[in-house]
Amino acid sequence: MKRGKIGNDKSLETMVNEHRDTELVESKDSGEKSCSDPLILERRTDLNEILFGSRVLHSEKVLVIGGGGYLGSTLTAKLLSKGYMVSVYDRFIYGKNSLKEIEGNEALRVFEGDIRDLELLEAVMKGHDIVVNLAAIVGDEACMVDPDTTWEINTESIGRIAAMAKRHHVKKMIQASTCSNYGQNGSDIVNEEAPLRPLSLYAKSKVEGEKILLSELSDGPGPKPIVLRFSTLFGYSRRPRFDLVVNTMAAHAWKYGKIKVRGGSQWRPLLHVSDAAEAIISAIEKENGGKKIFNVGANHLNKTILELGKTIQSVIPGIDMEIVQEAVDKRNYRVDFSRIKETFEFEPEYSIETGVLEIIFALDSSGMMDPENEIYSNFKWLSGNSEMIFQRNTQVTT
Ligand SMILES: NC(=O)c1ccc[n+]([C@@H]2O[C@H](COP(=O)([O-])OP(=O)(O)OC[C@H]3O[C@@H](n4cnc5c(N)ncnc54)[C@H](O)[C@@H]3O)[C@@H](O)[C@H]2O)c1
Repeated sequence: MKRGKIGNDKSLETMVNEHRDTELVESKDSGEKSCSDPLILERRTDLNEILFGSRVLHSEKVLVIGGGGYLGSTLTAKLLSKGYMVSVYDRFIYGKNSLKEIEGNEALRVFEGDIRDLELLEAVMKGHDIVVNLAAIVGDEACMVDPDTTWEINTESIGRIAAMAKRHHVKKMIQASTCSNYGQNGSDIVNEEAPLRPLSLYAKSKVEGEKILLSELSDGPGPKPIVLRFSTLFGYSRRPRFDLVVNTMAAHAWKYGKIKVRGGSQWRPLLHVSDAAEAIISAIEKENGGKKIFNVGANHLNKTILELGKTIQSVIPGIDMEIVQEAVDKRNYRVDFSRIKETFEFEPEYSIETGVLEIIFALDSSGMMDPENEIYSNFKWLSGNSEMIFQRNTQVTT
């Protein structure tokens, strides 16, 4: 593949390491948590533990529905490395490569199934203490490929999973939602109580999903519901996605030596996929202080799209930035993350700069990966394979 003009004599690994060292020094000075290695570097240090570590340190069993996805595969690896027994239930729409490195771990069980296959899901759920539901059709365009199926998966299934969790005495059910629910809120900073103004089918399906979960698991005995409204995620994962704004821009810079900014003044909160997985683990392990809904991110990671473009330019010197006035994506929201910081003491470790370098490094070192391949875009992949994907056929593979 032809590489773009990322003009720098230094190797990308050197840049990643230098950047990480800078963050470590900065975080020592500020007394904040230090930055840990990006996934690529993590592989050298933690892989043995994740692959073969069968040390079970937690008695609680976690079921991760959608555990083969971009966020799910990151979470699953982290849970295993922390000593949890983990079951993954996933339709594996985008393939099973994401779990390849960890499938030999004795503490992991993998089930291939659709969340609409209630009999199979119920058999799998038995005996689990925590259910984390990440399974969804994700992204505005991807949801439009088959709107009815999107609604079944993203919205209606949540009530059924919650009812099942009740029957099986699950202690906590954590549901992935999104800050896209805020839609268009201008530059005012919005917290969890702000009105939701979902613009897309994706966001509407998530807003309704939240409501269904909270009404099914209202106060009283039964699983405690936690809704996590994630920022837009970035960074490299065992299931790479290049249809998320930071990853798309970084990949474009890598492939063409330039980035395109549409509009520019829209606010968007951003978060590294590894930090998102850590937030889920905090929600598993910590008391929720009586709160059920949490925005997941950090105030300093709210960026306008133009600021993001400039950040990418500062990390990869020499790339061009084209600004197109008309923004196709009308979302504009700046989000307050005080609640998760105060309740779970949640502080992201990764900066956008580190995430961008991690993406560049991953693309450079793979030698084979074309970020524009359809498998890395939910919309492109679903558009080309919708019939096969949206049917419910499932099989068990432990
Ligand atoms: N990635 C982000 O920027 C972001 C931001 C906010 C919220 N979220 C939420 O986080 C969750 C995970 O997102 P992701 O980025 O990992 O997406 P993803 O598309 O990589 O993962 C979704 C997973 O769900 C599985 N899945 C889909 N339909 C299924 C079905 N019917 N039955 C069983 N499995 C099914 C897919 O196979 C895939 O592994 C989603 O709920 C999403 O809405 C993600």
